[in-house]
Amino acid sequence: MEIIIKKTAEEAGRAAARLLAEVVQKKPESVLGLATGSTPLPVYRELIDMERRGEVDFSRVHTVNLDEYVGLGPDHPQSYRRFMEENLFCHLSIAAENTFVPDGLAADIPAACDAYEEKIAALGGIDLQLLGIGHDGHIGFNEPDRVFSVGTHQVHLTAMTREANARFFPSAEEVPASAVTMGVGTVMQAEKLVLLATGADKAEIVKKALEGEVDPQVPASVIRLHRNVTVILDKAAASRLSQGRESALKRI
Ligand code: GLP
Repeated sequence: MEIIIKKTAEEAGRAAARLLAEVVQKKPESVLGLATGSTPLPVYRELIDMERRGEVDFSRVHTVNLDEYVGLGPDHPQSYRRFMEENLFCHLSIAAENTFVPDGLAADIPAACDAYEEKIAALGGIDLQLLGIGHDGHIGFNEPDRVFSVGTHQVHLTAMTREANARFFPSAEEVPASAVTMGVGTVMQAEKLVLLATGADKAEIVKKALEGEVDPQVPASVIRLHRNVTVILDKAAASRLSQGRESALKRI
């Protein structure tokens, strides 16, 4: 596992963007696994700038997103489909039909989850999966559990996650109670993982995920079992890592 620590969240985001762009430069028809939340916003800004500068071309890329709220469709301002359209897709040359986000409005959610897994497999798997991390260690919407989840499935959101995401909704009651998410197993099958965490509020969970036990109660800890993973942190999110890790701070 490689850990890169940058001074600011913006710089950390740019470093993550460069890793995504590298994958696309090497393989223009790459499948990128994407994430929502505030953390990846600097990544998406940089990718948009990079394509404008002619450094990378997204016209042949496919994307698959980690998750979506159940009950929210593309027209809902807080749906993840809408988030991706506004913050990334509509600014890139990527074809709309090559972007995939789980369908929060599907009539048959289990069938839609199976279809999402089949879609990822039909695309040839994910070349690089970008991950954020929730305060309870969730990745995608895989909440702390007794076991690591396998494939795409519906999850009940914890009070902590709903509270954390309430800032995007007019009121806390409007945060959906459940979501569809790729499973931990789906994520672990990606060729490469990039976990990005920024801000002092993530410092404690970053320490647990990177230095505690690999434990389904801290879903992000599973990434340590992946053969090709880069963790990118800003100084604030790295601030609780133990002495040994501090040497990485020299790479700022
Ligand atoms: C949501 C998303 C996660 C994301 C997390 C952290 O719960 N489903 O994919 O990693 O929020 O969000 P933020 O980056 O805003 O802290």
